Amino acid sequence: MAQNWTLEGWKAQEARYHPVYDDAKKLDEVVKTISSYPPLVFAGEARALKSELAEVAAGRGFLLQGGDCAESFAEFHPNNIRDTFRVLLQMAVVLTFASKLPVVKVGRMAGQFAKPRSAPTEVQGGKELPSYFGDIINGIDFTDEARLVDPDRMLRAYSQAAATLNLLRAFAGGGYANLRQVHQWTLDYMGRTPWAEQFTDIANRIGEALDFMEACGVDASSLPQLKGTSFYTSHESLLLPYEQAMTRQDSLTGDWYDCSAHMLWIGDRTRFEGSAHVEFLRGVGNPIGMKCGPSLEPDALLRLLDILNPGRDPGRITLIARFGHDKVEAGLPRLIRAVKAEGHPVLWSCDPMHGNVIKSESGFKTRPFDRILGEVRGFFAVHRAEGTHAGGIHLEMTGQDVTECVGGAIAITDAGLKDRYHTHCDPRLNAAQSLELAFLLAEMLNLEAAQRQAAKAA
Ligand code: TRP
Ligand code: MN
Repeated sequence: MAQNWTLEGWKAQEARYHPVYDDAKKLDEVVKTISSYPPLVFAGEARALKSELAEVAAGRGFLLQGGDCAESFAEFHPNNIRDTFRVLLQMAVVLTFASKLPVVKVGRMAGQFAKPRSAPTEVQGGKELPSYFGDIINGIDFTDEARLVDPDRMLRAYSQAAATLNLLRAFAGGGYANLRQVHQWTLDYMGRTPWAEQFTDIANRIGEALDFMEACGVDASSLPQLKGTSFYTSHESLLLPYEQAMTRQDSLTGDWYDCSAHMLWIGDRTRFEGSAHVEFLRGVGNPIGMKCGPSLEPDALLRLLDILNPGRDPGRITLIARFGHDKVEAGLPRLIRAVKAEGHPVLWSCDPMHGNVIKSESGFKTRPFDRILGEVRGFFAVHRAEGTHAGGIHLEMTGQDVTECVGGAIAITDAGLKDRYHTHCDPRLNAAQSLELAFLLAEMLNLEAAQRQAAKAA
């Protein structure tokens, strides 16, 4: 358990990018109400995820983390949940096959509502209002009512997260995630998509592996592992009153867990020393992610690791690199070397989204697919050179057919962005782009698996 930590100790530290609640009394009431609600996850589940992540950190697995940049009240619909879950599973099958390693599946879902904003207010047409901080804090429309920072929104976010998580659990355990079924969706999809031809070889090999196992008597009816999967949830731990209200003492161990999700992460802008966000997460037992961008110095990273993981517990820390396609190869090695030299057991994951945002000519915020892929390739190349494990990927994606990121095999053009640009925050990969990226990742993982096998044989 963390030393000198209290549930409200974060309040004495600096909370940057955090909204200001004018009505302190109402905020207190809401926090009290949520504190009395059932936790969304159980501490034992967070521990299970931590041990799975420890395996990944040791080179024996891969982490797939993905979902919306920001979930919204408006897009709350069973089909959206289902479609994002389905694409994540399709990706997971491809990645499992290519890497020959278990893939840990974590959604940016069921709680990813709060967004850090660089400016507290926004001016439009001479009018100044609070910035949009995500649906758990205020609304996206530029009106006085919508932009009001309202504690009651936390209650609605809680309910939406609970219902989302309930459906995800049902899908994961109830038969929807059947391996054969998930692979069949990929085949059906590829049959309708000419570009996918270059990946039919991998898909056919997965199918043959399943056929072979079935002939040997191993299928979903004989082996429960093929019928379902474990699926975990995560979000950025930004809105601290909400996270505090969801934090409970585990009756089995006496440790504190943030029961709003299995895994929480700290953003690149809130991971400075003296940060309220770091102080809060230091005291909870969940696995923790930390975004690492170009401004992070190796020394600062090591000090943060000592604060967040003094016991050097494997699986506790996932470092999520987000450098940009043109900066990852220069910037990442020094962090990897520092961490390796200190012997901190971390999982290295790649966020190829946040360092690759551009404004398109038509005025949309977008991310070119080529740059996303470029950063992933750079990330793998760095780990190959450093002899460390490229352990995971962190994506902003959706199962919907949106037009937010340009490029990909079914090329989305600048002019096409306006067709279905629905995101409440950053541009997401659509279903086709996500699956394409998984197949391209498979080629990189395949290489790693072959190297591992060769090393074993030597
Ligand atoms: N249970 C295994 C796993 O999660 C196999 C599996 C079943 C699976 N359904 C899946 C893998 C869907 C990926 C996607 O790895
Ligand atoms: Mn984002």
